[in-house]
Amino acid sequence: MGDDPHPAPPPKLRATGLTRGFGRGRKQLHALGPVDLDIAPGEFTCIVGPSGCGKSTLLRIAAGLLRPSAGRLEIRTDSPRPAAMIFQDYGIYDWKTVLANVRFGLDIQRVPRKEADAKAYDWLGRMGLADFAGAYPAALSGGMRQRVAIARALAVEPEILLMDEPFAALDAQLRTIMQDELLELTQATSTTTLFITHSLEEALVLGDRVLVMSARPGRIIAERRPPFGRPRTGDIRDAPEFTALKGELWELLRGEVRTEAVPA
Ligand SMILES: Nc1ncnc2c1ncn2[C@@H]1O[C@H](COP(=O)(O)OP(=O)(O)OP(=O)(O)O)[C@@H](O)[C@H]1O
Ligand SMILES: [Mg+2]
Repeated sequence: MGDDPHPAPPPKLRATGLTRGFGRGRKQLHALGPVDLDIAPGEFTCIVGPSGCGKSTLLRIAAGLLRPSAGRLEIRTDSPRPAAMIFQDYGIYDWKTVLANVRFGLDIQRVPRKEADAKAYDWLGRMGLADFAGAYPAALSGGMRQRVAIARALAVEPEILLMDEPFAALDAQLRTIMQDELLELTQATSTTTLFITHSLEEALVLGDRVLVMSARPGRIIAERRPPFGRPRTGDIRDAPEFTALKGELWELLRGEVRTEAVPA
């Protein structure tokens, strides 16, 4: 102890024996875990796994929206900035305008109105939604609603970004653009990110590491670190190592998806 000149910084997020069930008695469903996981400051971690394996459950626990049934989840923050979560089903408010939705987190942080409006407009512009500031979500497409949710989460400049399939509703071109934007943004700000996706390609483009979860109850069964440094750009999609790693991840995942498909 004490003689390592470069001690590893303590993790930003640590899960220890994290487990979650739903329901009681014989009807109890063991949804998640046990999961042990350390996420270092500034690290971008992607999680892939079959549908229903507990990915959203894990993220909800990390966001403090759900308690674990057993085990612990600890988050170490250095500032009053919040962890922010983008819900799989957007979680935007239909009775608020697009601008008010994006400003929502800033309002909670009591950012002065003028400054909050400026930040919200800035993020709406980056998301290609500047013309829809005064619209209500009912008037938007699925992909546009998702962009509102992304803008809302990023506007608070969170210390930890928790994203649950944030790009799933976007078309392929926009999805690629958003991945590249997110790469740039998280690299510029060293935001610690936990990102769930069904897309192996997306996980490899974005992640410092990719975790593969088993079928329910979801446990982490493999970890791969894409051999691409930082800062990186979306050009790595064309690298031969990229294709090889994607194939390897798919092999790992395929067995779990099959397990899931067969009724117990
Ligand atoms: N509030 C809840 N009450 C009861 N069961 C729940 C609840 N939330 C999740 N579950 C169950 O827990 C399991 C894991 O759900 P979860 O949403 O975490 O899966 P997921 O990995 O995010 O799936 P997907 O990839 O389809 O989004 C599922 O079987 C789901 O039915
Ligand atoms: Mg989910």
